[in-house]
Amino acid sequence: MNPYLVGAFVPLLLSLILCNTKSRKKRGVPVDVGGEPGYAIRNHRFPSAVESFWEGVATIAELFEQSCKRFSNKPLFGTRKLISRETEKSRDGRSFEKLHLGNYEWLSYGEAFHTVCNFACGLVQFGHNKGERLAIFADTRAEWQIALQACFRRNITVVTIYASLGEEALCHSLNETEVTTVICGHKELKKLIDISAQLDTVKRIICLNEEGIINDYSLAKKATSWAVASFSEVQKLGQENPVEADMPLSADIAVIMYTSGSTGLPKGVMMTHGNVLATVSAVMTIVPALGSKDIYLAYLPLAHILELAAESVMIAAGSSIGYGSPLTLTDTANKIKVGTKGDASALGPTLMTAVPAILDRVRDGVRKNVNAKGGLAKRIFDIGYGRRLAAINGSWFGAWGIEKVLWDFLIFGKVRAVLGGHIRFLLSGGAPLSGDTQRFINICLGAPIGQGYGLTETCAGGAFSEYDDTSVGRVGAPLPCSFVKLIDWPEGGYLTTDSPMPRGEIVIGGPNVTPGYFKNEEKTKEVYKVDERGMRWFYTGDIGRFHLDGCLEIIDRKKDIVKLQHGEYVSLGKVEAALIVSPYVDNIMLHADPFHNYTVAIVTPSQQTLQAWAEKEGITVGDFSDLCRKEETVKEVHSSLIKAAKEARIEKFEIPSKIILLPEPWTPESGLVTAALKLKREVIRKKYAEELSKLYE
Ligand SMILES: *[C@@H]1O[C@H](CO)[C@@H](O)[C@H](O)[C@H]1NC(C)=O
Ligand SMILES: *[C@@H]1O[C@H](CO)[C@@H](O)[C@H](O)[C@H]1NC(C)=O
Ligand SMILES: *[C@@H]1O[C@H](CO)[C@@H](O)[C@H](O)[C@H]1NC(C)=O
Ligand SMILES: *[C@@H]1O[C@H](CO)[C@@H](O)[C@H](O)[C@H]1NC(C)=O
Repeated sequence: MNPYLVGAFVPLLLSLILCNTKSRKKRGVPVDVGGEPGYAIRNHRFPSAVESFWEGVATIAELFEQSCKRFSNKPLFGTRKLISRETEKSRDGRSFEKLHLGNYEWLSYGEAFHTVCNFACGLVQFGHNKGERLAIFADTRAEWQIALQACFRRNITVVTIYASLGEEALCHSLNETEVTTVICGHKELKKLIDISAQLDTVKRIICLNEEGIINDYSLAKKATSWAVASFSEVQKLGQENPVEADMPLSADIAVIMYTSGSTGLPKGVMMTHGNVLATVSAVMTIVPALGSKDIYLAYLPLAHILELAAESVMIAAGSSIGYGSPLTLTDTANKIKVGTKGDASALGPTLMTAVPAILDRVRDGVRKNVNAKGGLAKRIFDIGYGRRLAAINGSWFGAWGIEKVLWDFLIFGKVRAVLGGHIRFLLSGGAPLSGDTQRFINICLGAPIGQGYGLTETCAGGAFSEYDDTSVGRVGAPLPCSFVKLIDWPEGGYLTTDSPMPRGEIVIGGPNVTPGYFKNEEKTKEVYKVDERGMRWFYTGDIGRFHLDGCLEIIDRKKDIVKLQHGEYVSLGKVEAALIVSPYVDNIMLHADPFHNYTVAIVTPSQQTLQAWAEKEGITVGDFSDLCRKEETVKEVHSSLIKAAKEARIEKFEIPSKIILLPEPWTPESGLVTAALKLKREVIRKKYAEELSKLYE
């Protein structure tokens, strides 16, 4: 029986058993906790906060060793073989790199353990001293995870940096943590050389080998005094010079994770082995029947806690991890040579993680495709969608059966095939997922989405929706490792005594709550508190409410609520979520100024939709930015925003009175949105200060 079917039947049986109690099912229950008064909820199955799922395992290093022994012959890390690198020219003369990638080649748990041990010993031999910190600055790939585990076996704290962070942030993080060894890819090495004069503490570079690229460190040797070696050279050094492991304790710092803050320089969140272990233990209980039959497609940045935690869960469960990248994910991805397979179809994963922005794109892509086909295809899709929606309305698994097989055959099979055809569970996190997208993906993929809520500061722990929860727009009950408490925020008008649901600022407590920010006592004290019973709490700044069944819904962010001059509050996020529904909008940032009575907005329009409209209207203009400047274009987009706002019952003073259209899309590389594609409001405001002030004239 194939793993996908096993995965599907176990939850099916469970759901049949649970079916009768479903409507009354309590997923979170009140709990008595210390600290600031509020309304606290815990997971219904676990009376106290879970620290470790495995007896005698207190660190991620021990967990890795245990898994390697238990699953020794099972495949762990998969990497695609490079067949060729090619350059294609587009019609306008620009050239693109295209990859022809082969099948996945696997390293078993046993082999991976040897590689990790060798690399760990190699670090010692290469000169990395006890107590010094090491940074990993590279794209997600098997060697990233291998290097991480090797550091853990030597009690080395790993500093992680988003590959998309700017120079200033990069210098700051490496400097602040006094990193002596950096592990990086070829393109990151170039960035490091550029700023080498400012990196006082770096002494050693380990460069990841890349197929088809010859190791050439002459540039680094010329410009710096660094010792440079390749990943395989260090591994070989260790193999020839074995030393005993130097294992950490649960309270030792495993990772210092630099996250892109919305303002100023990034902050380094310190995470202990105990923190990561608590989250991993808790998530193990959430994904149904997780095990060595599962295949996970890894492509999000490992410097992000969501990916780090997810891969740790896969290793703990004995699953296989196949590495890919966002640019090679599907058959039609940018870097995939036409006619060859993307990562998903080459791997056939059963599990994936995704950030909402990616799922929104999948949804839009499918809708556009169906609409473009029109006619019968669209009718069949709409009918199928409606039937599937009705079926899951009662229960997810009502949809399993003859009808599902039929619709799969007719239409959804093609959508499923985009992600390899075997996905049985999708994990979404990093930002709230819109109800519309959640339902769409549920229906088209025929697999549940588990929505998580957590922060780097809580080591991704917090809340997680259970696989049999068919509701949308909520993030589930607290994870077994966390207690979630709401506290009053009277200024914003959110109280735990509100009816029909208690509302307030979300505070998370438990063994997953991290010790704080590196070398930033002041900020740490501001948002972390230890209560009289010794539990650590993190103040998230998010506003939530608890449903009757103990599930959390995120409704706002403290920072994103602005009081206008006449005293009314505007929730920027809420209004943006309503306006982004307009087909003309690719991205939007609402701006509210406390000295005015109205709001304004910056819109990056969807080029395709806007140009189609212009064509229909017979408007001829030079390029896209000319089109964006045209008065009638602005008017058309503005009226579609007003329509969307009215449909979502947005208050009049919340609807932007004036807007501006900007032709360039916002990407993480531009620094205007985070890697999880969240708006960096401060950066956007600063960059477009002039445009914004014009809107208030
Ligand atoms: C691990 O390293 C840290 C930092 O260098 C140190 O404080 C701690 O005592 C070490 N742990 C063990 C078990 O040696
Ligand atoms: C790094 O630290 C050194 C000394 O501690 C300092 O002189 C330098 O300005 C710092 N660089 C950055 C980019 O913070
Ligand atoms: C789903 O259920 C809700 C109420 O439970 C109902 O209002 C809605 O019409 C149903 N939708 C479909 C498609 O059956
Ligand atoms: C905003 O509204 C208040 C009360 O309606 C009024 O007193 C104030 O002058 C208005 N401010 C602006 C800038 O229009």
